Amino acid sequence: MSIDKAINYDDLRRLAKRRLPQIAFDFIEGGADDEIGLDRNQQAFRDVALVPRYMRNIDGINQKTELFGRTYDHPFGISPTGLVGLFRHGGDLMLASAARDANIPFVMSGSANCTVEDVGKTAPDHGWFQLYAARDNKISEDMIRRAEAAGLSTLVLTVDVPVHSNRERNARNGFTRPLKMTMETRLDAMSHPGWLLDYLKNGMPVISNWLPYAKNGANADDVANLVSEQVTAPLTWDNVARYREIWPRNLVLKGIMHVDDAIKAAELGVDGIVVSNHGARQLDRSPGSLEVLPDIVAAVGDRMTVMLDSGVQRGSDIVTALCLGAKFVFTGRFTLYGVSAAAKPGADKALDIIGREVELIMAQMGAPDIASLGDEFIYKPQPRNY
Ligand SMILES: Cc1cc2nc3c(=O)[nH]c(=O)nc-3n(C[C@H](O)[C@H](O)[C@H](O)COP(=O)(O)O)c2cc1C
Repeated sequence: MSIDKAINYDDLRRLAKRRLPQIAFDFIEGGADDEIGLDRNQQAFRDVALVPRYMRNIDGINQKTELFGRTYDHPFGISPTGLVGLFRHGGDLMLASAARDANIPFVMSGSANCTVEDVGKTAPDHGWFQLYAARDNKISEDMIRRAEAAGLSTLVLTVDVPVHSNRERNARNGFTRPLKMTMETRLDAMSHPGWLLDYLKNGMPVISNWLPYAKNGANADDVANLVSEQVTAPLTWDNVARYREIWPRNLVLKGIMHVDDAIKAAELGVDGIVVSNHGARQLDRSPGSLEVLPDIVAAVGDRMTVMLDSGVQRGSDIVTALCLGAKFVFTGRFTLYGVSAAAKPGADKALDIIGREVELIMAQMGAPDIASLGDEFIYKPQPRNY
């Protein structure tokens, strides 16, 4: 199948799987521990039924969404994903330009293979920056300063990586630093020549935003080691207060799952949160992000912007989250599979698929615009007295 023929998430996933060696594909697809969370995220969406309303005027469905004072063309954006350059050389900026062209936000990962300056140039109106707080505060604060100078509108602090999680696929595949090229890995790579040529030509991609903090002449492994040592910093609310002080634009916490943490964030003047379990890559026994969304919205929805990611594989997932109170929804693997499979056209294709699916579901439900999505459409089963 070619990228033109892809019609859904699963097609993009299959195309990415075909192009990537297992060691890379598993890094994208995998979760933590027993990977229970992957199913749970999806099941949470499937457990919600949407009740359609008919005989409403649905001519010209409008997905435009206001977020932090900017109007985007869709209610969804691209979640930060690290190491994109390993799946597709230059992939970060392909995602950034796909987001720019679709007029949606692109969140650059704290372990991206590009810099905040690159994103500022490629997608000045659409780039956000996700920060992994560093053990050395000077590094975090310098990155924040650079993101501001590069013109990025929103700082997303990821809070759900207190330690590196247990990803057993990576351990088995030798996805370690440096990459363990076993005989099996090499043979597998050889059967994925498109990816292999890219890798041999360009080598292991550097987590380039961190390059200025590494020793002179550092290679990709040196920088990756530095990031690994630095990013499991003991992050506390004091850091959040400090970042609030020094970052003048929108501040978002990503990875909030508990109502009390959401309340605390609101109290500290944070502008928004992404309710997220990191796509089931951190705490495997966490609830699905959709499961905790309604209580969080009830607690802080009038004080801050509540967004969501984790497990989105259909336009109906996005619409469901919006009906349950999310103001915006992000997706990680969807666009990552697209760009891995077919570069920028693959990322465009992913966004096109999601946009069309959202439109179709809204039309089927009788919801002409984003503002009309809400609790009205959520099926609430009543006890039956037969
Ligand atoms: C390959 C990969 C790399 C990721 N890297 C990061 C990262 O650098 N920073 C971060 O905050 N989240 C990261 N995430 C989590 C995503 O931002 C997002 O929360 C998750 O992918 C959402 O779930 P979904 O993939 O089911 O849409 C990563 C996810 C994947 C799949």
